[in-house]
Amino acid sequence: MSALPPTAVAGRGPHSETVAVSAERRWAIIVGIIIIVLVAMMIITGLHWAAMPPSRVETIDVKTLHITGEFVESNLGTTMGTDGKATVRLVAQQYSFMPPCIVVPAEMPVTFRATSTDAIHGFVIGTTNANTMLIPGFVATFTTTFKKTGEQLMPCHEYCGIGHEAMWARVQVIPPEEFLAKARGGERLSCVPR
Ligand code: CUA
Repeated sequence: MSALPPTAVAGRGPHSETVAVSAERRWAIIVGIIIIVLVAMMIITGLHWAAMPPSRVETIDVKTLHITGEFVESNLGTTMGTDGKATVRLVAQQYSFMPPCIVVPAEMPVTFRATSTDAIHGFVIGTTNANTMLIPGFVATFTTTFKKTGEQLMPCHEYCGIGHEAMWARVQVIPPEEFLAKARGGERLSCVPR
């Protein structure tokens, strides 16, 4: 084996070992930096998304919503818009919904627009798929169609404090003709006894 040409052992001397060690160290540092950057990106984007509302969510000022704008008391309840669409506006607070009795037509699309003034609330309407969370500072909106007439219970389904159990409203689903006759004139409807 002593017949190996000198070139065959080139690269095995003490000098080449130092080169290899420093190359390994360099690559270890580069890989380490890449891992740190990737983890930092995950943490930063995660925190960013956690702290931001999803896009296209409407915001509202909790401090002024009683006084001005869409959610003043006189504007709550159900209306028939000029576009022929029914809209329910309601506000949740500890521990009630305003209005506490809501009238909606059956067999017609109904848009709900709702918000909360204090804690996180939510509601589900009976056995329908109408279900949303209400977060202070944001307007929750969805559109649904009620298939059957009748009365449904609408409990708060997010724990919001000691009065949570007692926080609920009633929803009266009435025939569309009856609703249209009542809603003519653009007044706000509710089934709250006057
Ligand atoms: Cu409001 Cu629970």
